[in-house]
Amino acid sequence: MRKKIVAGNWKMNKDLDEGLKLASELVNMIKDEVVNDVNIIIASPFLYLNSISKLLPEDLNIFLGAQNCHEKESGAYTGEISAPMLKSVNVSYIIVGHSERRQYFKETNEVLAQKVNVLLKNELIPIFCCGEPLEIREGGNPNSYVVKQLEESLYHLSDEQINNVVIAYEPIWAIGTGKTASSQQAQDMHAEIRKSLQEKFGKEIADNISILYGGSCNPQNAKELFACKDVDGGLIGGASLKARDFLEIIKSC
Ligand code: PGA
Repeated sequence: MRKKIVAGNWKMNKDLDEGLKLASELVNMIKDEVVNDVNIIIASPFLYLNSISKLLPEDLNIFLGAQNCHEKESGAYTGEISAPMLKSVNVSYIIVGHSERRQYFKETNEVLAQKVNVLLKNELIPIFCCGEPLEIREGGNPNSYVVKQLEESLYHLSDEQINNVVIAYEPIWAIGTGKTASSQQAQDMHAEIRKSLQEKFGKEIADNISILYGGSCNPQNAKELFACKDVDGGLIGGASLKARDFLEIIKSC
């Protein structure tokens, strides 16, 4: 059975005090209110990971996430953060290839494949993001665009390795825009992704990979999106910055 996952991507928001306050509010609410079996991930800015890790009780399904990492394990890469560094502060999941990184930092499918490799080597779980821009949704072939992202960054992996990857489908036109994909659009793409995984890795593996939806997911639309057969949870941006909203999304999963 594949896992249900709700991950909060704080992006470049909150200072240290605000971040710690949000994390501890969340922990308390989760303790009191969350009864469903869902893995919850907090992907804060790098700077606060170590402090937040100390707030997460071991008996709750809350895990620490990072928003990026460098593709090399160590060396002369001024300003960068490596997979072993993240591991040493108890991070378990790392978002890889978010569309903002692809767009503003020119991350290519090839570099993302290297990031996935270094994470798996260090026993960390990549949350690999894929998704098409608006012009492809409107005039192109979104399915083959997304499948190509998977092929070029993930399909060199072994069966054992792909089992440890989470995929997030995030249509770029839905991120931070308030324009969510309809549940039908989300389900169709998730089914396409699973079909492609099945062709490459077989049915058993494809059925076990969690595929999250991201893009303007909020407490109002989460339930319908998460009810789709191939949607196994969400990657949440804006709504993860408010403890109550994020909690309601978690409860909808
Ligand atoms: P959003 O962001 O929920 O603010 O649209 C999602 C994401 O970028 O992961």
